[in-house]
Amino acid sequence: MLCKYKYTTHLCVFMVLLLQLLSRTAAQSCASSCGEKFSSCSCHATCESLRDCCADYNHFCLDIEPRSGSLLGGADFKILNVTFQQNINLTCRFSSEIVTEGYVDEDGAGHCITPLLYESGWIPFEVSTDGLHFDRSGRWLSVHHSKLSPFHTSVLVNATQWQYYGTPGVGGDLKIIWIPSLIKAERVNIELWGYNETGEAYSANWEAEWKYLYTVGRDVPNTGVFSFTPHIADKPYSLWDLGSMRVSPSTKPDGAQNVNALWSGAHAVAWHLEEAFRRDSAAWALEKCISWDKEEKAMPDFLTEITDCPCTLAQARADTGRFHTDYGCDMEAGSFCVYHPGAVHCVRAIQGSPEYGAGQQCCYDSAGAQVLTGDSIGGSTPDRGHDWGAPPYRKPPRVPGFSHWKYDVISFYYCCLWSDNCKYYFTHRPSSDCRTYRPPRAAVVLGDPHFVTLDGATFTFNGKGEYVLLQSSDYQLSVQGRTEPMKFENGTVAMATRLSSVVMREKDSDVIEVRLTDQADVLQVLMNQQVLSFSEQKWIDLSGVFVFSPKATNVTVMFPSGTGVEVRAGEGVMTLTVLLPHALQNRTLGLLGTMNDDPEDDLTSSDGLMIPLNSSAQDIFIYCAGWAVTNETSLFTYDSTYLLNEYSSAPKHDPSFVPNFGVTEDPEDPLLTPVLELCAGDGASFCKYDALSMRSLDQGNATLLAYRSHASTKKALEPVRSCGWLSPPNHGQKEGTLYLEGAKVTFSCHSGYRLYGSQERTCQAGGEWSGEDAHCVADNTLAIVLGSLGAVLALVVMVIAVVAYTKKQNKEARKQHDDKVTYQQSGSHL
Ligand SMILES: *[C@@H]1O[C@H](CO)[C@@H](O)[C@H](O)[C@H]1NC(C)=O
Ligand SMILES: *[C@@H]1O[C@H](CO)[C@@H](O)[C@H](O)[C@H]1NC(C)=O
Repeated sequence: MLCKYKYTTHLCVFMVLLLQLLSRTAAQSCASSCGEKFSSCSCHATCESLRDCCADYNHFCLDIEPRSGSLLGGADFKILNVTFQQNINLTCRFSSEIVTEGYVDEDGAGHCITPLLYESGWIPFEVSTDGLHFDRSGRWLSVHHSKLSPFHTSVLVNATQWQYYGTPGVGGDLKIIWIPSLIKAERVNIELWGYNETGEAYSANWEAEWKYLYTVGRDVPNTGVFSFTPHIADKPYSLWDLGSMRVSPSTKPDGAQNVNALWSGAHAVAWHLEEAFRRDSAAWALEKCISWDKEEKAMPDFLTEITDCPCTLAQARADTGRFHTDYGCDMEAGSFCVYHPGAVHCVRAIQGSPEYGAGQQCCYDSAGAQVLTGDSIGGSTPDRGHDWGAPPYRKPPRVPGFSHWKYDVISFYYCCLWSDNCKYYFTHRPSSDCRTYRPPRAAVVLGDPHFVTLDGATFTFNGKGEYVLLQSSDYQLSVQGRTEPMKFENGTVAMATRLSSVVMREKDSDVIEVRLTDQADVLQVLMNQQVLSFSEQKWIDLSGVFVFSPKATNVTVMFPSGTGVEVRAGEGVMTLTVLLPHALQNRTLGLLGTMNDDPEDDLTSSDGLMIPLNSSAQDIFIYCAGWAVTNETSLFTYDSTYLLNEYSSAPKHDPSFVPNFGVTEDPEDPLLTPVLELCAGDGASFCKYDALSMRSLDQGNATLLAYRSHASTKKALEPVRSCGWLSPPNHGQKEGTLYLEGAKVTFSCHSGYRLYGSQERTCQAGGEWSGEDAHCVADNTLAIVLGSLGAVLALVVMVIAVVAYTKKQNKEARKQHDDKVTYQQSGSHL
């Protein structure tokens, strides 16, 4: 039919061929995800659509429980919705290479045991019933052990006692507990496993080693508790000082790999160290500390490439695209900052450093100021191995948790905890002050959409459709937003819209979509069009992106560029905050504007046309409509009839939806007085618009709160000048540990010393300290100097005299000698 008219035949044949080609590709991709027998069905790659098209979709989207567990392996997960025959041998294969045993339980449900993975994130797995064909698949979420809930681990009771065992005053019995039902056995063994890294650092043969050392408790009842009196281990076991305890069924051979097990967190294995440690732990630790110091000196310097810390606690907590709470020192969780006395909260740089995958940590005291190693043993320290690991994981120094323990934590025990030689540690792990830190810029979309751009321009846009909120070709970053008409409480459509979904990606990362659901204020997160559940884990490592959702109303998406996207749900609307690091300056386009400190050019269309900020609501509407995404660029998922009808096929901007461009403040309106009362101060106009157009004070209030929250984020992110850390003078001390603009630091000297240079220095607006460096000079130094000068003078006089005398003597001697020679020579002529 397409090829009816002769003159279009060629084009038409071409198009038909193209269509065939396209559908073949779709069928092929379907075949690869569904298996050959489903190649005829026109399915997408998602489990949701497979459910409709593949009769036996359960083959490819195995639902399991639990869905996540420790990257050390040992979890037993159950395959849901599939029944297996009792007599088969179930095998499971992870990441297409690691095969572990599975089993079928009495109800016919299949189970797999997860393997040691050395990486976090989604791990694909396949299941086989004959050991040959792995024809069912699913995915497992591998989690850093310190981010796991204690219900998925075995717990060392009184961890400090474990890690200090054998140091003065620490002894007794050690206790470990676990949830018995998580080990499917009557009796268990308690084993110690050790971690090490072998091969040459930063070379291809650098590998992680996870080794069974010995069994501490054998064939003990699986009651969930085990106590023992530690003994010094035989060599070479006593040389392993970093490891985890494993609880596993006693039916398994000692040290069997990848069996059902519960691991404890990593710990410093003080309790089995050699005799020398028990005799004098401080001396033993100092020796270790010194040899670590030597090793560090031989390794490449990573400090130059790690990111600088935020200057204040407020900045650190607002810069959520680049920094995230350190679980070891979290004020929200009321945690006691064991390694950082004096700090109330620490954050870690989310991304590993570019070349070495190194980490940065930043700690703050109760006044919100940085705690620095130069001043305090509680100071924050950078890490050769990022605690959370760094993609692509698997190998040192990127193994989550363990590389960090190996290079940064056990050495802290040697130098700072088991002995008092922290200066060695801090030489290699000094806190970062914040002299080169630049806070990110924040833009927001809130209410029935009001926009505050990256440069702070504001406008309102109530179009219906899907639009480019932010785009950066340099970073291949794209953030798109969908708006949909608001509804009044009685269900009728209002002439205003709200943001209902946001989708984003950076480079070839997983595509993340966050959208409102029918359930009030519950956000749904999609990864590559599939629903992600945060019921087991709050933080998920994905490919090229991290997502954190501590509760259904809050989602944070973090990209390698340092871009952070915060989505919040409240009062049925979505608030979107985008945080952009300074590196993206001048590299952004879209409705959130061009980030260049100039709000005037923020309303620039995709083809470079600029409209003034004070344009009419109608002109702004036309401008914004121009930023609609296209079928080709859309990243959204259209997985419901509503979305398919309203957004997927239609033009992305719906020209038939014409909103109210303004609200009239009618004095007769009974709502006006309470609205005017509510909507005061900054954000008042947004509040008024939303309250009056939606006839809802709650709506206005939600908008006002979102606006204020944005204002406080911006305030928290204001740049602060730092003049950098100042050291106390030798033989003296300093008062003051604040180094930000306006801070004063004073110096004094120990008795017997006098201060030279400035006694007080102030951090000035330009980021420089006033005055000069302070030095302490001993009071009697001058006398000594003068005395020595006199002595030197006397010496010089003597030397001159001696030299003159010697010269004279020499002269005479030479004369005599010459005479002698002359005489001898003449004599020889005789
Ligand atoms: C799969 O099994 C779970 C738990 O048994 C159940 O809640 C769920 O509805 C099942 N799903 C399907 C698609 O049958
Ligand atoms: C959720 O987000 C709100 C607003 O940004 C914030 O105040 C709150 O602390 C967040 N909750 C959690 C659990 O992170």
